[in-house]
Amino acid sequence: MKDIKMEKLAIAGGKPVSAEQLKPMAWPPRDKATAKRLNEVYMSGKWSFNGPEEQAFTKEFAAYHGAKYGVFMFNGTVTLRCALASCGVGPGDEVIVPALTFLATSTAVNQIGAKTVFADIDPLTLCMDPQKFKEAITSKTKAVIPVHLYGSNADLDAIISIARKRGIFVIEDCAHAQGGKWKGRGLGSWGDVGSFSFQQSKTLSCGEGGICLTNDEKLAGFLYRLKHIGYAANTAQGKAASGPPAGLICNNFRATEFQAVVLRGQLKKLDKLIGLYNRNALRLEKQLAGVPGLRIQTRGRLSGPQSYYGWAMAFEDEVFAGVPFNRIQEAAKAEGLPVGGTYGPVYKHMLWNLPKSTYRIANGKCPVAEGLASTKTAVLAHQWLGSDIATIDSIARIFAKIAANADALRKMK
Ligand SMILES: Cc1ncc(COP(=O)(O)O)c(C=O)c1O
Repeated sequence: MKDIKMEKLAIAGGKPVSAEQLKPMAWPPRDKATAKRLNEVYMSGKWSFNGPEEQAFTKEFAAYHGAKYGVFMFNGTVTLRCALASCGVGPGDEVIVPALTFLATSTAVNQIGAKTVFADIDPLTLCMDPQKFKEAITSKTKAVIPVHLYGSNADLDAIISIARKRGIFVIEDCAHAQGGKWKGRGLGSWGDVGSFSFQQSKTLSCGEGGICLTNDEKLAGFLYRLKHIGYAANTAQGKAASGPPAGLICNNFRATEFQAVVLRGQLKKLDKLIGLYNRNALRLEKQLAGVPGLRIQTRGRLSGPQSYYGWAMAFEDEVFAGVPFNRIQEAAKAEGLPVGGTYGPVYKHMLWNLPKSTYRIANGKCPVAEGLASTKTAVLAHQWLGSDIATIDSIARIFAKIAANADALRKMK
């Protein structure tokens, strides 16, 4: 970007890149066809209990991701919980999760009485480091939850191969990965179970919702019973022909027909949306390539299109040492761009209140998750990747301008 070095930061009295605050694409999407169908379902009075919309959605979503079975639930925390329970995880077991993820990945483990073990992440993808996963395994390890975080995905080949050798179940947390692909097939269809969230902010959203995908008929059967108070799949309400296996504690985690209607409408457009996100991410990345001090989250090895729940980029110490992250955020805001940060390690989160006896930090610490990844990494929500070209180019210009003026930020009081 020519002459960017000469431009004074807006926070220091210079001209901002954008006179107005930039705006991302409007979210969530709404359309008349979905509103009409919602009204029809409302008038039908059939709102729950595995109705035609739920059946169609689970089939369509599973097929889209290359999985045989889908079990629809009311959020992406209970899907994780049921995924673990379907694999027989319970008290006395350990489950390895990446240190950098949303709280729910680990609270789901503790909710079923197992112990969370935090393993460090790969500094480039920000997803679980397979070697750190391997080092965290003990005789108690029953499952691992790789999380496909923001705009990347965990190294499934490495993680699955380590897990298979030790008889460890693999549950992919795909809350950020609707429509994302690994070696040409959908994320969530590679491990034993894939767990997705459809909460308000997600790339595919119905306000609240979640689904488990699996290719294993037995696990699918357990998952269905777990979310539907013990009923087997395709059993009419009130007409149970068989009970759940002993010890499988079942719940009412059902979602409604309304959620399925909203998701079916969006699923039809997911390819197009992800195509747009990937094109715009590439455009941003091309403009920022080679700018010293900026390191964009690397796409997952062998990944296809990314779902891009978020676009993440670290401000590296070689340029930004001594510049607090909140000063970078203030500088970006003054240029017209509000910028968020990462979750940070779960065990340092304000809402993580579990006693030390219920979790373990592998090797005593996770330096990558505790360092740059959490303290100086910007995350733009996916809606920014749906902006027009002018906004994308302004975003690139803002980050390049900030990097060129790191010295000025460092000296600022
Ligand atoms: C990585 C990850 N896992 C799980 C969840 C839980 O999903 P839900 O909010 O639908 O319970 C989220 C939600 O943000 C998430 O980001």
